[in-house]
Amino acid sequence: MATELEAAFNSAEQLISDTSKLVRVVLSGRRRNMSVPFERIDIRPVSIKGAISLQISQNDGRVTTTKNLEAKDFDAQAYLEMGYANILVEHTGGALTIRITKKGEAQVHEEKGLREQNLEHDRKKSRLLDASDSFLIEVGISDSDGRVKPAKADKYLQVEEFLRLLVPTLNSAIEAKHIAKPTTEKPLVIADLGCGNAYLTFAVHQYLRSIDMPVHVIGIDIRPESLKSNTEIAKKLKIEKTIEFKAEAIEQTSIQSCDVAIALHACDTATDDAIAWAVTGGAKLLLIAPCCQHDLQTQMSNVPEPWNLLTKHGLMKERLGDLMTDALRAQILKLLGYRTEIIEFIGGEHTPRNIMIRAVKTGAEPGSKDVESYKKMLSDWQIDPALASRLNILK
Ligand SMILES: C[S@@+](CC[C@H](N)C(=O)[O-])C[C@H]1O[C@@H](n2cnc3c(N)ncnc32)[C@H](O)[C@@H]1O
Repeated sequence: MATELEAAFNSAEQLISDTSKLVRVVLSGRRRNMSVPFERIDIRPVSIKGAISLQISQNDGRVTTTKNLEAKDFDAQAYLEMGYANILVEHTGGALTIRITKKGEAQVHEEKGLREQNLEHDRKKSRLLDASDSFLIEVGISDSDGRVKPAKADKYLQVEEFLRLLVPTLNSAIEAKHIAKPTTEKPLVIADLGCGNAYLTFAVHQYLRSIDMPVHVIGIDIRPESLKSNTEIAKKLKIEKTIEFKAEAIEQTSIQSCDVAIALHACDTATDDAIAWAVTGGAKLLLIAPCCQHDLQTQMSNVPEPWNLLTKHGLMKERLGDLMTDALRAQILKLLGYRTEIIEFIGGEHTPRNIMIRAVKTGAEPGSKDVESYKKMLSDWQIDPALASRLNILK
């Protein structure tokens, strides 16, 4: 084990062992050449008959099984070494994230910020968005009694989990001065691209205002019906001064720029339009959950050997095309000075489109290898990704 990894595990173990401050632990992803017993494991302290136990929820991709272990019997080291590539330890003072690279090195990120510990044994996951909030009723996620409508449960969770990632990322970017601290005079400008019924747009606006962050949120969608109904809701909620909507194509929007660009399932290359527009306008933070994509799949006709082993199966070609599209989007962002990650923002049972591209503008120069591998991938596969064309990159 690399020393750094050992040190990272020791830090994680210390945080986990302090159950008076531990909020939760999430283990996900698989390390190279290792197999893991579950797709994801969530661990949190719970109070049972006055004593602290650790509740361990293990998801195999279909079902979640839960067991409780007395804290003294919990072997944190064994869990940390089980073979997971992503380890998140949240505690009341912040969070520690460890990502283990293919080379087995630890990329460690520490974040400060208060988090609440909830020791209820059989609590429902505490939500950022109260289902009975009037905006959720107005947008049609919740019914008039303030209960999430069954048909909207997945969308509610998608928005909730998106927000759960946005908030700490935003706080870290502000803390690291990648984004200027928003003020009433200069609020944070957030654009939701391909906002549709604006579930996410309103959620971001309402939540960030509830934590006193000055924001101006803009929802952009090509459909005039979206503009009409979303604007009516904004007026009804009396928030039209700080949230606005545009019925415009992303690529031709009259809005010039934003600080933070978000997009949840903007169809196909509308995601590329969203990224290209955000980058051109100097957005500091992008959180983009792509949708279906067809751009590269239609270009994958001169497949370099031996990759035809995958592409000869239609299903796999489709999936490979999805992965390549997002990998190249992430790489383009990296080449443009963004620190970029690809993460899952929600379990696959709530949407198969559960990948998120998270990019923070740091201005870091890409290495020559980054440029070379990007160029090589394009030339080997004879492809021209939509985002590269829109940004005219390395042409
Ligand atoms: C799948 S919906 C997602 C809506 C919303 N973000 C959500 O998650 O509920 C995609 C939205 O993108 C919009 N859209 C597609 N292409 C667009 C473009 N080029 N410019 C603006 N909006 C676009 C569509 O009208 C649609 O409302």
